[in-house]
Amino acid sequence: MPHLDKDKLVFTFNPNLDNIDWTHICSMFYNVNWRTRVEEEIKLAFSNSSITLFVYYEEQIIAFGRTIDDGRYYAQLGDIIVDPAYQGLGLGKSLVTKINEKLENYHFVTLTAAPGKGDFYTSLGWKKQTTAFIWPQGPKQLRQHTEPETE
Ligand SMILES: CC(C)(COP(=O)(O)OP(=O)(O)OC[C@H]1O[C@@H](n2cnc3c(N)ncnc32)[C@H](O)[C@@H]1OP(=O)(O)O)[C@@H](O)C(=O)NCCC(=O)NCCS
Repeated sequence: MPHLDKDKLVFTFNPNLDNIDWTHICSMFYNVNWRTRVEEEIKLAFSNSSITLFVYYEEQIIAFGRTIDDGRYYAQLGDIIVDPAYQGLGLGKSLVTKINEKLENYHFVTLTAAPGKGDFYTSLGWKKQTTAFIWPQGPKQLRQHTEPETE
C-alpha cells in the first residue's frame, strides 16, 4: 500500500470540469469494475451535479464523488470512488462526509450502495431505507438490487 501523507490531500469542490482529466476518471471507474461509463459522456453527466468533489494527492485525482440532485430538495450521492491503491485509509469516509455536509438543507438525501458496500455506509451512520424502489434496467440490476418477490 502506498504511503499517504494526509496533509497533502486537496479536497476540491466543484472545480472547472474543463480542467479534469476525464481519461483518468474513466480509468478510475474501470479500475473499480464499473465499466459502463463512456468517457465522452462522463463530463456532461458531472456537469449536471450541483456538487462534485475531487480529491487530489500530489496533483493526481485519487478519489471523487458527486450528487445527482435538483439543487434544492432531493439529492442522491453517486459515483463515490476511491482509487484501489488508496482504499482503507479513510478517504471514502471523508468524501461521503464532506459531500453530506453540503446537503444539510435538502429534504431527502439518499444513495444506492454498490453490492457489498452497504456496511461501508452504515458504518458512517447511513440508515437502510425501507421505502426505496427501483425500475431495474436489466437482469443484473434485478439480481443485485432487488429483494426476492413474495407470493
Ligand atoms: C466503498 C469505498 C468508497 C470505500 O472507500 P475507502 O476509502 O476504502 O473507505 P474508508 O477507508 O473511508 O472506510 C471507512 C469505514 O468503512 C469501512 N468500510 C470500507 N469499505 C467497506 C466495505 N466494502 N464493507 C464494509 N465496511 C467497509 C471501513 O472499515 C471503515 O470503518 P471504520 O471507520 O470503522 O474503520 C471504496 O472501497 C471504493 O471506491 N470502492 C469501489 C467503488 C464503490 O463501490 N463505491 C461505492 C459505491 S456505492
